[in-house]
Amino acid sequence: MKDGRIIGLGLESSCDETAAAVVADGKDILSNCIYSQVDLHSIYSGVVPEIASRAHLEKINPLIHSALLESGSGFGDLDYVAATNRPGLIGSLMIGLQSAKTISFALGIPLVAVNHLEAHLYAPFLEGHGPGYPFMGLLISGGNTVLFEVRGPGDMEVAGRTADDAVGESYDKVAKFLGFGYPGGPVIDRLAKGAVARKNLFPKILTDPGDTRFSYSGLKTAVINYMKQFPGADKAEVAWSFQERALEILARRLFAAARDRGIKKMVVAGGVAANSRLRELLAEQKKQDETIMIPSPLLCTDNAAMIAGAGYMYFNAGISDPLTVDVKAKV
Ligand code: KG4
Repeated sequence: MKDGRIIGLGLESSCDETAAAVVADGKDILSNCIYSQVDLHSIYSGVVPEIASRAHLEKINPLIHSALLESGSGFGDLDYVAATNRPGLIGSLMIGLQSAKTISFALGIPLVAVNHLEAHLYAPFLEGHGPGYPFMGLLISGGNTVLFEVRGPGDMEVAGRTADDAVGESYDKVAKFLGFGYPGGPVIDRLAKGAVARKNLFPKILTDPGDTRFSYSGLKTAVINYMKQFPGADKAEVAWSFQERALEILARRLFAAARDRGIKKMVVAGGVAANSRLRELLAEQKKQDETIMIPSPLLCTDNAAMIAGAGYMYFNAGISDPLTVDVKAKV
């Protein structure tokens, strides 16, 4: 099954998805197995770290087994093993990293400890887009809202980040307030499509063009106050109005940073990149000579194929990590 190709196993366990994947040459996904813990956490309307770690521990071995089986590979075919070691929940990260260390030690193959944020930005490269540097990388998820200038593997500079909540977190909180379950992003995305009267109920966020920050706690509070004042308000219209503002600043900041720097390529990744309205907005505002790469929805959310892919860049450059490498809550 190797055919002279470089085969990597990727492991992901930074938050509430346990995942194992096998990738060939850093670009061909041979298997991509994911166990989502959403049902375990949904009754708490958020991720409970202790429950997450226990579930990772129970699932990681069966997932590694399935990923190898589906890819048609055995442990003996692996050239390297990569695992997320930062950022994330400490107890959760330890399960994936420790499993990867064990495999690395037992097989005598290199271990690559991967930055989860960098891996998200690698996702489009698993779908036929060659990594082309430099690019602007907008990472939008339940835990992060951050814009990077990416100049090469590991060479990333923050060009803007949220001053408070992450955009996905604000979707989840607003959805919860409107009486919907977790995760709230897909619910609001769907609900907003059905809005009839499309009126802007909330102001644009941080309109000073010199500002590079994002902010979501004010918008969330504005939605809550509006619903308290007008309890009978149409939820689809409120969802539409919230979403327009939540997404408008993402597009505005991304294009401003790219055009300021003369960068023509952009990658948008993370759970919120699955949003259908965001895809529309970016396509509308993009200039002809600009390229926007957004992974397919399965690769937008946490997965291990992106970990194996990002790990490949380092392995290929002869860079690996010692077995003493540790997990980190923050990058
Ligand atoms: O990257 P991700 O799977 O991992 C975490 O950060 O945990 O992102 C999950 C986030 C959640 O906040 C979820 O509500 C949001 O992505 N999300 C969406 C959509 N699908 C998922 N937000 C807006 N629109 C969507 N279609």
